[in-house]
Amino acid sequence: MAKRTSLHGMWSSRFAFILAVAGSAVGLGNIWKFPYMAGQNGGGAFVLFYLACVVAIGLPIMISEIMIGRRGRRNPIATMRIVGEEEGSRPSWGLVGVMGIFAGFLILSFYSVIAGWALAYFVFSLGGKFNAATPESIGSLFGGLLGNWKAMAVWHTIFMALTIAIVARGVERGLERFVRVAMPGLLLLLIILLVYAIVAADFARGWVFLLQPNFAALTRQAMLEAMGQAFFTLSVGMGAIMAYGAYLPEGTSILRTSIWVVVADTSIALLAGLIIFPIVFANGLDPASGPGLIFETLPLAFGGMPGGTMLAPIFFGLLVFAAWTSAIGLLEPAVAWSVESHGRSRRSAAMVIGLIIWGLGFLTIFSFNLMSDFRFLGGTIFDNIDHLASNVLLPLGGLFITIFAGWVMCKNSSSEELDIGTGPAYGIWRFLARWLAPAAVLVVFLHATGLLDRLGLI
Ligand code: PHE
Repeated sequence: MAKRTSLHGMWSSRFAFILAVAGSAVGLGNIWKFPYMAGQNGGGAFVLFYLACVVAIGLPIMISEIMIGRRGRRNPIATMRIVGEEEGSRPSWGLVGVMGIFAGFLILSFYSVIAGWALAYFVFSLGGKFNAATPESIGSLFGGLLGNWKAMAVWHTIFMALTIAIVARGVERGLERFVRVAMPGLLLLLIILLVYAIVAADFARGWVFLLQPNFAALTRQAMLEAMGQAFFTLSVGMGAIMAYGAYLPEGTSILRTSIWVVVADTSIALLAGLIIFPIVFANGLDPASGPGLIFETLPLAFGGMPGGTMLAPIFFGLLVFAAWTSAIGLLEPAVAWSVESHGRSRRSAAMVIGLIIWGLGFLTIFSFNLMSDFRFLGGTIFDNIDHLASNVLLPLGGLFITIFAGWVMCKNSSSEELDIGTGPAYGIWRFLARWLAPAAVLVVFLHATGLLDRLGLI
């Protein structure tokens, strides 16, 4: 088959691609979302189920997404349509890309608001606001931010502008430089924080909470959320990784890249958990307090450790970087689509789409103040946007992607694109993509509706 080339340039090296995918995966999902979700869902059993989803569902889907992306070399909508047709299936596979782009809109709308909190904390820490921190002082600092929607809007606007600026320039040029510094730096700071958690906080209790499974806490809802978190943290299910795969030069090992990224992403999430929970317990805080968890705990660590005044701005700065490289991946599929199918310039596509998402972000901002009492389906507007995108749309998109990779694409195509022959590694991937991953997603979905219990199946 004659190979297509991407219309947006290519990654300069294999390493650049790994950095880009890792940059997309590692972000607020690991450091902000994972700890608070684990806290709300009772810890250990949730974590174990999340890990199982990462390996059995997330990894094969990541491999599938990169593979499909490189084969199609277009935005996710066109890629799914073109590759689908080549494989003798319907063009309507493009709808999976449409759903992914919609999920990306929803996710970026709240992601940017939370990244705005990190930005605010960067500035707070520069102003010495964490010195002599107590749970009360930090609680009121955070409460003050949440209560002030105008301040939140300003931070959200700055973050969205940063994201648009990079996507407007072209991902491969804009991104590489940042990820190269941000990732190792973030890891180093997390290790320093871990040392603090071991020495100065209640590490033993934090460890037990995070890693000792209590299966009674693993409700149907918790299982759905653990699966959603696996998708969210790996950036799979919406075409972000597929869009990056489209810029991947031939001859790069998709399998090795994916394994590497999954290991890095998971380690960083676990590290964040091992830092947060000891601080939570040492200060008598509530592990189930929700989206504010890291913003109410980490300042206590920085306030209490030697050199904390200096480390806090570095940490929150790096967190913003990590969020930035993920946000870019959330915006890229829609922009690539608009450029390719409407002939827009990258700049105007990034601005127009970014502006829509920016507007959507106000629903999240207001969920923490003006409209915090407005609840439906058991949560605020933010809770519902997050739930719909992370726990429904991403797994659904992932389900279609893995069915596409395992069933629609023939053996010849997938083994050619993965370039690992048809040996055991290929066999395992194909088994996971054809059977285990789709079945697991379906079972968790059905289980969440309560259907399996009602039918007496479990
Ligand atoms: N994986 C990112 C994080 O953990 C979020 C993300 C989701 C990015 C989906 C791109 C696509 O922060």
